[in-house]
Amino acid sequence: MECNKTTRVVVIGTGFVGSSYSFALLNQGITDEMVLLDLNKEKAIGDAMDLNHGMPFGSPMKIWAGEYSDCKEADIVVITAGANQGPGETRLDLIEKNAKIFKGIVGEVMKSGFDGIFLVATNPVDILSYATWKYSGLPMERVIGSGTILDTARLRFLLSQYFDVDSRNVHAYIMGEHGDTELPVWSHANIGGKPLMSYFEEHKEEGRSLKDLDEIFINVRDAAYHIIERKGATHYAIAMGLVRLTRAILRNENSILTVSTLLRGEFGLEDIYIGVPAVVNSSGIREVLELNLSNEEKEKLHHSANVLQNAMGPIKN
Ligand code: 2OP
Repeated sequence: MECNKTTRVVVIGTGFVGSSYSFALLNQGITDEMVLLDLNKEKAIGDAMDLNHGMPFGSPMKIWAGEYSDCKEADIVVITAGANQGPGETRLDLIEKNAKIFKGIVGEVMKSGFDGIFLVATNPVDILSYATWKYSGLPMERVIGSGTILDTARLRFLLSQYFDVDSRNVHAYIMGEHGDTELPVWSHANIGGKPLMSYFEEHKEEGRSLKDLDEIFINVRDAAYHIIERKGATHYAIAMGLVRLTRAILRNENSILTVSTLLRGEFGLEDIYIGVPAVVNSSGIREVLELNLSNEEKEKLHHSANVLQNAMGPIKN
């Protein structure tokens, strides 16, 4: 990405996630232009008007409701469009519906002459990221799924509450499917550099037991179900995660984030998009951080990958 070039982000789908993302992006002021696209054009126009009216309180940026042709000049196209989970539905239940929608969207974006980076957030995100990679023909580095960025944030937050430490000093990853088979990587978790288990032992206040960590993980894994039951959708935290990724790309930050990316032998897995820590910069995925997982973690990651592979029918056939 050249310096001083006007940066443009196109958001496809201005539902809960897309509109929360645009709001967060405007507030963080990290792009020059933001284009909103939705099947419901009036909704996109209304969102653009509403966001533009906040401009005097934020940093200058051009925002408009656009067309697929606007993707030609985009650095990043963020896809949040598609059906979302209803109460009791799993992310994998959405595959048929959303794969069809994606074929159309990615085809239209590529027709514009787009040559930037796709950020995919729609569920099932690992499978739809793979689909976007296949449908677009772009190099894998330039198709990134939000993966377990949100699950990792949820884990860091819940651990920070448990230990009463700033969540930014809690380092712990969730890897695998963004969904029911994800796993916590306890073997590499640390608080300010101190291994989580040592920190736990040193702060073993009365009533604390290792079972609490299992419970924390279950709350991370099932968080979306708990939120959807209450308010029908999750959108603020994922929107912030997507903005974090946008910043890593536009500012060439080389940030390590847990995203869904294509594995080509890492962790013994191939031809699959799945959540792993990776270095993200202006060319997209620079590299996957191949952690030395414990045997149990490796097994769980492989199980998660198998579940995803088995659900890939509508994409691969
Ligand atoms: C979430 O985890 C539903 O994937 C969405 O919040």
